[in-house]
Amino acid sequence: MRKDVVRQGRLSGTRSAEMVRFLSSMQADRHIARADLLVDIAHVLMLDTQKINERAVTKPIITTLLGYYDDGIPDDVFDERFEDVHAGIESLLIESIGSEAGGRMHVGRSRNDEVATCLRIRLREDLLAQMAALIHVRATLLAIAEKHTTSAMPGFTHLQHAQPTTLAHHLLAYEQAFSRDFDRLLSAYTRVNRSPLGAAAFASTGYPIDRNLTAGLLGFDGLVTNTMDAVATRDFALETLANLSIMMANVSRLCEELVIWSSAFVRFVTLDDAVCSTSSIMPQKKNPDIAEIMRAKSGAVFGAFSSAFVTVKGLPMSYNRDLQDLTPHLWRGVQDSHDSIVILSDMLAGATFETERMAEEAGKGNSTATELADSLVRSYGLPFRTAHNIVGRAVQKGDLSLATLETAAQEVDTKISLKNLGLTQKEIDRMLDVQHSLALRTAPGGPAPAATKKAIALRKRQLNADTADVKKIQASINLAEKILITTARRLVA
Ligand code: ARG
Repeated sequence: MRKDVVRQGRLSGTRSAEMVRFLSSMQADRHIARADLLVDIAHVLMLDTQKINERAVTKPIITTLLGYYDDGIPDDVFDERFEDVHAGIESLLIESIGSEAGGRMHVGRSRNDEVATCLRIRLREDLLAQMAALIHVRATLLAIAEKHTTSAMPGFTHLQHAQPTTLAHHLLAYEQAFSRDFDRLLSAYTRVNRSPLGAAAFASTGYPIDRNLTAGLLGFDGLVTNTMDAVATRDFALETLANLSIMMANVSRLCEELVIWSSAFVRFVTLDDAVCSTSSIMPQKKNPDIAEIMRAKSGAVFGAFSSAFVTVKGLPMSYNRDLQDLTPHLWRGVQDSHDSIVILSDMLAGATFETERMAEEAGKGNSTATELADSLVRSYGLPFRTAHNIVGRAVQKGDLSLATLETAAQEVDTKISLKNLGLTQKEIDRMLDVQHSLALRTAPGGPAPAATKKAIALRKRQLNADTADVKKIQASINLAEKILITTARRLVA
């Protein structure tokens, strides 16, 4: 039976299989196995540079670790007998090169700083993938919006027809929200990408380690300086999950709209068959299941966040084993969020927006009544509240004809005659026209085609800048890994 290098010595007693499984983080550790290898290599190189370990020790360790790096981590590492991947790799290393060299890998560190470092390395990769996926969904929204700057549709408040807008305007709202989600993740990244390595258990170590050297080798932008904080904090995971939760709330709202829009009541969108399911009993059914699952996933991500959040809230300094149990929530939240954003892009790109149906509804429910009231203010100098009152009364009477508006005006104030002011039915019809109402709304961010075209150009510029940022960061961590591995290879060559 393979021995767990950590447990030997101090503890006796036999653990039940249930206890072993209960304690092990092995399943979640598959996420960080590759990161752990990089951390091991960087740590061992640093020990060599600082002359904490001799070259004769460094060489066999690095050779073995590079073997794992090149050929894949052996499956034995993930044996559930080990408490975690850190113990697994170290145990296997000692088994293969002996404890005289292998037993010197873990000098000057603890699994506490090791795991925190691995989490940050893996999470930064996930964050970059998430940001890239957000860029893709934003580009998809902009591409659809570009085709629909004049596609009128009803805008809603309280899910009641409110004022006409355009499909472009509606989709740009989501693009802007996803852009803020991007910003939040980018901001979180700057705090994720800091090295806790060298903190050891929490009190650092008496060996002359070089924390900045390992931080640099691993592509970190700096240290989590205080060594107690370095092993104790999971705030970087919490803020990531909080940001992803906010993002998923936006995703869920969009999914909810796609579900509503694809209903036969509404018929604003026809979703691609690929993202729909049918019924086992009702052969005619086409259900928006992907949008529904995605709506549910937002709940799962909030759940991951709140599970992680309550895990840390009562913990004293510094490391507590509870922290191990937080990690699977992080990976679950990250995975569900990423899957959702990637699939959302496909769902949007494959959707057919039924612009005729949208246009048909755009003017319903007296949706241009606001514009009529505004026009009475602009053309005839009525106070807005008076105009609002007149139009509201006319709606209550049943129509917005000149005769009805005149009656309503007289009720509000006998001195007001719209006819005498020069209002005609033709003028009313013009004021109530959907495209007329849209064209007037040219304020920045408004639905007028002129405004949305401008907005799309601006959003594209932002998207390009964001794409460049992600590429730059990705290149810098790729380069760090390349340098780390080249340095390791040179040392054993
Ligand atoms: N697997 C642990 C985790 O994920 C790290 C091990 C630290 N264990 C310990 N007893 N200090 O947090």
